[in-house]
Amino acid sequence: MTENEALSAKALTLISHKLRTPLSIINGYSEAVLSQAQKEKFSPFTTKALHEIYKQGNRMSLLVEKLMSFNQVANADPATLDKQPVNLKELIKECAEKAIAQEGTEKGVPPQQTGGVKRGTFIEIDCSSQLTLTVNGEMLKLCILELLSNAIKFNNKLEKTIKVQGTNHGDSISIAVRDYGVGIRPQDVSKIFEPFYQVDDYFTGQVSGWGLGLPMVQRVLDLHRGSISVVSNRGLGSIFTLSFPL
Ligand SMILES: Nc1ncnc2c1ncn2[C@@H]1O[C@H](COP(=O)(O)OP(=O)(O)OP(=O)(O)O)[C@@H](O)[C@H]1O
Ligand SMILES: [Mg+2]
Repeated sequence: MTENEALSAKALTLISHKLRTPLSIINGYSEAVLSQAQKEKFSPFTTKALHEIYKQGNRMSLLVEKLMSFNQVANADPATLDKQPVNLKELIKECAEKAIAQEGTEKGVPPQQTGGVKRGTFIEIDCSSQLTLTVNGEMLKLCILELLSNAIKFNNKLEKTIKVQGTNHGDSISIAVRDYGVGIRPQDVSKIFEPFYQVDDYFTGQVSGWGLGLPMVQRVLDLHRGSISVVSNRGLGSIFTLSFPL
């Protein structure tokens, strides 16, 4: 890393940390006031405004977290990467729960209400409970969560089904995330791994993000000498497959 790159990475970490604290205070208060609004019957306008503040504040927090994760992964050194055996099924389950909770927060549903909200997202997991993989567990979680959150975001159906499959091929282990969402046009597939690239279509402005998730996943796979591939059909959905050599 050059001196300038090290300085930019440090600046990004510092900015993200500084944004994190005030945002968590704003989000904590908006959640508390929202729960009060339910009990005390605030006016519809006040309740709507509070929901919007809660939603946008949490979206901003997710953006800051993504920026921090991207920065951390981009600057990680493959020679000193901390790798441990992880149980793949358990790790996928944890990511699936987090992805569903995150979807609620992005829509402006506070955590105490999610139990009462009809869930429209189903994540099916097909993976042997014996499957273990020696990787940096935190980075693998970031990857699976990213693919799941994309599968949820780029899908305008009311009921969303996502399938995650973990397979042992003998010399490698693959993790495939399949969705039935909007899909990606062939001309965009090669570009979606470029930092800050977001497909410019009718979704623009409706979903939050930086265009940093997939470049981050690509970098994690590079750090593990693995690979990522995509098969997608516009209108039918996509399959993103991560492959880790054994
Ligand atoms: N499962 C998917 N279905 C359809 N399009 C997708 C899918 N995953 C990614 N894309 C397209 O690829 C683009 C890049 O994805 P990426 O995850 O890098 O960024 P993002 O999700 O827009 O933002 P961020 O990940 O920073 O929150 C997306 O903006 C979207 O257009
Ligand atoms: Mg993303």
